[in-house]
Amino acid sequence: MSRFFSEKYVSLTPYTPGEQPRDMQYVKLNTNESPFPPSPSVAAAVAAECRKLQLYSDPESTALREKAAQVYGVRPQQILVTNGSDEVLNFAFMAFGSEKAAFAFPDITYGFYPVFAEVNHVPYVQIPLQEDFTINPQDYMNIGKNIVIANPNAPTGLCLPLSDIEAIVKSNPDNVVIVDEAYVDFGGESAVKLVDQYDNLLVTQTFSKSRSMAGARLGFGIGNEKLIADLNTIKYSTNPYNVNRMTEFAGVAALEENDYYLSNAQTIIQNRQWTKAQLEQLGFTVFDSKANFIFASSDRIDGETLYRELKQRGVLVRHFTKERIAQYIRITIGTMEQLEILIKRIKEILEV
Ligand SMILES: Cc1ncc(COP(=O)(O)O)c(C=O)c1O
Repeated sequence: MSRFFSEKYVSLTPYTPGEQPRDMQYVKLNTNESPFPPSPSVAAAVAAECRKLQLYSDPESTALREKAAQVYGVRPQQILVTNGSDEVLNFAFMAFGSEKAAFAFPDITYGFYPVFAEVNHVPYVQIPLQEDFTINPQDYMNIGKNIVIANPNAPTGLCLPLSDIEAIVKSNPDNVVIVDEAYVDFGGESAVKLVDQYDNLLVTQTFSKSRSMAGARLGFGIGNEKLIADLNTIKYSTNPYNVNRMTEFAGVAALEENDYYLSNAQTIIQNRQWTKAQLEQLGFTVFDSKANFIFASSDRIDGETLYRELKQRGVLVRHFTKERIAQYIRITIGTMEQLEILIKRIKEILEV
């Protein structure tokens, strides 16, 4: 740390992203990316926009918002597009959090939420998941705080039914409830259909997972027009051209080929079922994930050792040191070829 670093940030612990090794030697199952490339029209859209790089991108991302509005059944004014969904989440903490408006989220969830709170000096409470790692909706009823819930949750993959999400939104009319649906396309039920009914609901989604565009950095928020206007105030006060032109039109192309992505998501769901069954046969406890990853533990080997042994054998998975989940590893669902290697390596490690 330099001696110039603002005292506002000296105690900040930044988010630690998963490893991104530069060589492609690993079977990479650690950051919940898609194993499938984007559709061919995405590459063509990027190439076309590359030829116009001398011009700024459209600060309103009009083409993408119009296309997304069609696909998601909302109005373009109800959508904000951002540089990954991390950006819309950060904007939401900035826009809606304050000394008087704390945030609440589970103790085990996406590790960026406490960082967003801290960097924006927003107080927060972490509500423990139940013993079985599910969210108890009662813990969030009428709590007088803004709420962020990842649904499906990460890293557990567990989902709350939409009726529970709705009850939480309904019982906190004076606070914003953010539903982070980064993984919703792998078996969850989206809350987007509720945004016209509740002016305090913000749903966030991403192109990083089901749409195979993690490297393009594209996410979006859908909510009441006034919430979106607040988020735009933050955006235009920080980075008006937050989505570059290649990414915007890659997004349009991806939305035009929805069937390709839906079919890839179905493949991931099938591969997830196969992997879960294989791990259970090996004695693992595996949560019932509705995401493109599974969270698993074994009595025979601790999470960190398994992570290290797999890495030595060329397979990257994610391990978290947080005490409550230190026994687990999170495995991204890849292709069958990748998953067969994973299971083979685990068998070698366990000597079965
Ligand atoms: C629950 C959750 N929300 C949001 C994100 C952010 O994704 P991105 O910024 O790539 O859209 C992630 C990334 O892994 C995530 O796991």
